[in-house]
Amino acid sequence: MTVSTRHSSSSTSAPNRKSWWQRPWTGPLLVLTFAFVAFSIPPYLTLDPAKSRVPDPGFAPHYPLLVVHVLCGSVAILSCGFQVWPWFRRAYPGVHRRVGRAYVFAGVLPAGLAGVVIGATSPFGPVARVSNVMLSVLWLLTTIAGLRAARGRRFGDHRRWMIRSFALTLSIMLNRVIGGVLYVILSPRLDSTFHGDENLLVQTIAGIGTWLGWTLSLLIAQWWLDRPQSGGRNSRSGPARVGLRSETGASKVAAGA
Ligand code: HEM
Repeated sequence: MTVSTRHSSSSTSAPNRKSWWQRPWTGPLLVLTFAFVAFSIPPYLTLDPAKSRVPDPGFAPHYPLLVVHVLCGSVAILSCGFQVWPWFRRAYPGVHRRVGRAYVFAGVLPAGLAGVVIGATSPFGPVARVSNVMLSVLWLLTTIAGLRAARGRRFGDHRRWMIRSFALTLSIMLNRVIGGVLYVILSPRLDSTFHGDENLLVQTIAGIGTWLGWTLSLLIAQWWLDRPQSGGRNSRSGPARVGLRSETGASKVAAGA
């Protein structure tokens, strides 16, 4: 079934339909994701392990899997910015479907599977390892749940699971911000709290940063989904009223229609 989403996007009678200036987060989010990738990706495009920002943990497959993770993670985070943009979903449902496919199959699935292995062998210590594996597994599960809901035409569930998946994708930026703040706060205590042990300082910052990054993001996403002004859009079984047509499109992608 083909539905004209262009027509629906021009309708002024639909409740909750907002213009781009009423959703001021969309532009900055896109700029932030592009800036994050522009900063993160260059050392890994050289395929030179000496340029990696992650120390070698002494596990041969680590570097090739890290490169796969960074490249596919970039696909996920760049596509995420477009998928959460309501106007874009309504105006370009076909592109939304293709970008949705890229998000799942060229982004989260390969980056998350690689994330499980590089997470378990992380050089940043056991606390960060447990967090990275938890995050990778949750990233994979929320995305697969969103995909299955779309294929089953359960659009309310599809939206809820994908918002959780996007929150985990974007959490990587919060992780880096928290890491920077922790470095500023904790590095002056190197000789006191950390007894001069730089490795302990780095593992503490990485451990706190990675756990806080994704747990806070997930809590914010859940608050967003449960907030009263959602007006019933977020009911588990019912279709999401706003964006229903574009999510119908997303389900067609997932179903390969
Ligand atoms: C959301 C699930 C994710 C998990 C579990 C995860 C996990 C990891 C792990 C374990 C490492 C190796 C460093 C370490 O041992 O701590 C790493 C590195 C990296 N990840 Fe992810 N990651 C995720 C998402 C992303 C996304 C969406 C991007 C977007 C580009 C990304 C970009 C990178 C980059 C660039 C590095 C190399 C370190 C650097 O140069 O800053 N990751 N990630």
